[in-house]
Amino acid sequence: MRLIMLGPPGAGKGTQAKILCDKHKIPQISTGDILRQAIKDGSPLGVRAKKYMDAGELVPDEVVIGIINERISEPDCSGGFLLDGFPRTVTQAVALSDSLAENRCEIDGVVDISVPQESLVSRLTGRRVCEKCAKMYHVQTSPPKSDGECDDCGGTLYIRNDDNEATIIKRFEVYSQQAKALSGFYSEGGKYRKFDGAVSIDELSSQISRFLAH
Ligand code: AP5
Ligand code: MG
Repeated sequence: MRLIMLGPPGAGKGTQAKILCDKHKIPQISTGDILRQAIKDGSPLGVRAKKYMDAGELVPDEVVIGIINERISEPDCSGGFLLDGFPRTVTQAVALSDSLAENRCEIDGVVDISVPQESLVSRLTGRRVCEKCAKMYHVQTSPPKSDGECDDCGGTLYIRNDDNEATIIKRFEVYSQQAKALSGFYSEGGKYRKFDGAVSIDELSSQISRFLAH
């Protein structure tokens, strides 16, 4: 199964992606996670990406397209994959279609989660992420049992560099500039569905599963 997850920052792409990938046993490919890892490693990619990410802007298309083309050609993607946060522009979407067509594959489902900006700011300023296993928490709605520590692996929880109010607002603006064209690109045909993400994680997950079962 090949899936795409679209939506604004904090919509719950990563949260739902993890549930779907566990269920369908496919790799979760998050361009954001790949870029954050590159920054942590101090690689040339990380050095290039950092200024865009810290500013809440998009990393240039050619960089992320290169990352995805390389990643989806790895052996663990032969049975499918989930793209979390890619594509974000029509240029990226066209590049993805071209590269799938070359390999005679196609996307099976596009999940577009929408949440109003007001809810996103508190979701993101309260988010904490485990530096070891990347499990996500929220200080109010899903806190860890022990402050600052991951329930599953004991790793330290951190706040993402771009999870401050000013950068969140910028990220939302950047998302809004591309969203209509991108959903337009996918909305023809029965593989695209828009979901109201302002419901519980479990409720949204059930709705997505019903859509994908069709
Ligand atoms: P990326 O890492 O993809 O960040 P984002 O798109 O801003 O999205 P987030 O990861 O912040 O949110 P999410 O939708 O995954 O929500 P989550 O599940 O964590 O990208 C970061 C940066 O990298 C970009 O700004 C850009 O610079 C660069 N980049 C990445 N991809 C790129 C590309 N393709 N092109 C160019 N540049 C690119 O949930 C958020 C919080 O809400 C959590 O605390 C969670 O517990 C909580 N939550 C989740 N669901 C619910 C719910 N239903 N109800 C209540 N709380 C919920
Ligand atoms: Mg995410």
